[in-house]
Amino acid sequence: MEFSIKQGSPEKLKSGCVVVGVFDGGKLSKAAQVLDKAAKHALSDLIARGDMKGKSASTLLLHKLAGVAAERVLLVGLGKVSELNNKTSLEILNATFKALNATQAKDAALYILDEGVGKDGGWVVKQAVFSASGQAFRADGMKSKPSKPAALKSITFATLDKPAAALKVALDQAAATASGMELTKTLANLPGNICTPTYLAARALALGKAHKSIKTTVLDEKAMQKLGMGSLLSVTRGSEQPAKLITLEYSGTAKTQKPIVLVGKGITFDTGGISLKPGADMDEMKYDMSGAASVLGTLQAIAEMGLKINVVGVIPTCENMPSGKATKPGDIVTSMSGQTIEILNTDAEGRLILCDALTYSKKFNPDTVIDIATLTGACVIALGHVASGMFANEDKLARELLAAGEQSHDRVWQLPLWEDYQPLLDSNFADMANIGGRAGGTITAACFLARFTKDYRWAHLDIAGTANVSGKEKGATGRPVPLLTQYLINRTATK
Ligand code: BES
Ligand code: MN
Ligand code: ZN
Repeated sequence: MEFSIKQGSPEKLKSGCVVVGVFDGGKLSKAAQVLDKAAKHALSDLIARGDMKGKSASTLLLHKLAGVAAERVLLVGLGKVSELNNKTSLEILNATFKALNATQAKDAALYILDEGVGKDGGWVVKQAVFSASGQAFRADGMKSKPSKPAALKSITFATLDKPAAALKVALDQAAATASGMELTKTLANLPGNICTPTYLAARALALGKAHKSIKTTVLDEKAMQKLGMGSLLSVTRGSEQPAKLITLEYSGTAKTQKPIVLVGKGITFDTGGISLKPGADMDEMKYDMSGAASVLGTLQAIAEMGLKINVVGVIPTCENMPSGKATKPGDIVTSMSGQTIEILNTDAEGRLILCDALTYSKKFNPDTVIDIATLTGACVIALGHVASGMFANEDKLARELLAAGEQSHDRVWQLPLWEDYQPLLDSNFADMANIGGRAGGTITAACFLARFTKDYRWAHLDIAGTANVSGKEKGATGRPVPLLTQYLINRTATK
């Protein structure tokens, strides 16, 4: 999908559809007033008849208005000015693209920036791009008859006055972020029989091929053995598919700048292993590589932006399967850090692959390390599907992630990493157990990871509730690519 910003008068713009707002009670927005005049008061007439009341997120499609160059006019209700906030703005944007997608218009010009639909122009542009590309996304590529691609191919954010230069920057960032989200969704939606660790490695290598600024390397099990990754390798023991450790190094600025390392959980299917999961909805455990997919999507986004920052993606990836060779409850393994782990539940496997990847990450001399993982069902219970769980061993980093979440509308909520939780991981036989019991399951999982991240600034994102939706709308969301890219953009700006 193409996006652009353009100044122009709404009646003159040649396009498949021109979109203008109507406030509650039928008050025309500035652009709508210009159109109304050009169309001999066709808009005020239909409002007087009561066909459009300006109710928030309502829409009315008109064809071939005399005096208007565009083929169609879409009126969009903006509601009461006093009630315009992030939530209502998003509803308005989603309704707008839903109405546009119900037509065959190939392009559209949206006059929404002059009207304060949302906090600021940059925010509106970003969310509009996410909404438009989200609706254009198709997840049915593996059906024998996939649905038709969206007709709408090009969107212009039109303004009456000269648009601020910052809008163009926001637009380019949004478009790159949206294409990163698309990659993340595509990969996460793939079934486990296609999206194996080897497949993920191939996609990471392809990303390195497509972008000069990205260098990809892939370690096999032998190399991981040499590095002493006994914890990661214990998870893959039951699988026929070989595990991989993928590294993507994005160089956007001088080598002297320490990188931000993103570590993504890449369990391409989580059966639970010998601690087998119940059958219901187990298919959704194909999404257990969503952290990995978000790292690939974020790297693609920042490479497309040419962001002046250094970022390393680290992806530990394998399957968690039961078999005669699989790791058993009670088995004790030695992690790359030297710490030993008693595996009391083979279904708590995410932390086992992450801990070795986190120890490995030290070699990049990181400025900050952020891991992203569909780590605990308990996080879904705690925060639902709205916010991702967030932990950090530094308050400033936590605040930066909270802020980036608000800015991108890909929100996180902080949970505590207090020492008081650490004894829950005590083991009689090893340095620690891999589970801490039912109480505070999201926190004890983070506390486990904290034992491997003492040497650098670190945050952990638990995306179990936000990476995908279940039910009729089952599918990947592309989160937290908007959050991560926004955080990286912000880190570039403060340098
Ligand atoms: N991948 C799951 C977590 C998960 C659950 C993600 C539901 C998305 C939806 C993880 O590997 C897991 O199985 N965690 C266990 C941990 C427990 C054994 C301590 C869980 O949450 O039940
Ligand atoms: Mn599991
Ligand atoms: Zn898992």
